[in-house]
Amino acid sequence: MNKLEQLYEGKAKKVFATEDPNLVIVDYKDDATAGDGAKKGTIRGKGVVNNKLSNNLMKMLAEQGVPTHFVEELSDRETLVKKVQIVPLEVIVRNVAAGSFSKRYGVAEGTVFKAPTLEFSYKNDDLHDPLINHYHALALELATQEEIDTISAYAFKVNEILSKYLLQFNIRLIDFKLEFGRLADGTIVLADEISPDTCRFWDATTGAHLDKDLFRRDLGGEEEAYQEVMKRLLG
Ligand code: C5P
Repeated sequence: MNKLEQLYEGKAKKVFATEDPNLVIVDYKDDATAGDGAKKGTIRGKGVVNNKLSNNLMKMLAEQGVPTHFVEELSDRETLVKKVQIVPLEVIVRNVAAGSFSKRYGVAEGTVFKAPTLEFSYKNDDLHDPLINHYHALALELATQEEIDTISAYAFKVNEILSKYLLQFNIRLIDFKLEFGRLADGTIVLADEISPDTCRFWDATTGAHLDKDLFRRDLGGEEEAYQEVMKRLLG
C-alpha cells in the first residue's frame, strides 16, 4: 500500500491517502503541544511509541469486541487504518480526579471516583474544545442519539478492558480521551490513538506520571516515561 497525497496534518499525526479509497495511512510525529497549542515542543521517539502502543491496544480491544479503525502496522511510525469520518467529540473517561476535572470542580488530584465518569468536549479548535453534554451534541448535530449511546457504551467498555490490562504492567489508568469515527456504511469504530498523549498513566506503586503531563507541566523526563510505558507493555 503506497502513501499518496497528504489529506491532513494534525498536531501529532499526518494522514495520507492510499490507492484504496477506504484506507488511509497515519504517520506519527514527535511533535507535542499542550495548553491548547500554547506550548510546543518535541518528545523524541514519541511517534514510534504512540504508533506501536496504540496499535497494540487497539488490537487487544478489537479482540474483546470493540471495533477499531486499525488495519496493519506498516513501519515504526506508520499504520494503515480504515478511513473514517471523525465524530467531532472528545470522549473522556475518568476513574480518578486529575487535570481539568480537578481544576473545574475543585477536587484534589488522585481522588478516586465511586464509579467511572464520562464527559464530552466539542472537537473544535476555534472554540477551544468546550465541554458539552449529550443534549448539546444532539442540538449541534454532532451525532445521533443512537451513535452517542454506542460511543458511550464503547467508552466504558474500553475503560474496563484497558484498566485491567494496564494493571498487569503496574500502571493505573487515571483517565483518557477517545475519538470515534464513522465508516462509509455508518458503523461507529474507535479511531485516533490510545497513547501516553491521550491517557493519564500513573505508576501503580509510586504514583509517578508516565504520560504527557510530564511535558504539559514542565516536569521533565517525558522521553524516558514514554519509553518506559513501551517497555512495560511491549517488552
Ligand atoms: O485535561 P483533562 O483533564 O481534561 O484531560 C483528560 C484526559 O483526556 C487526559 O488523559 C488527557 O490526556 C486527555 N486529553 C486529550 N486531548 C485533549 C484533552 C484531553 O488526549 N485535547
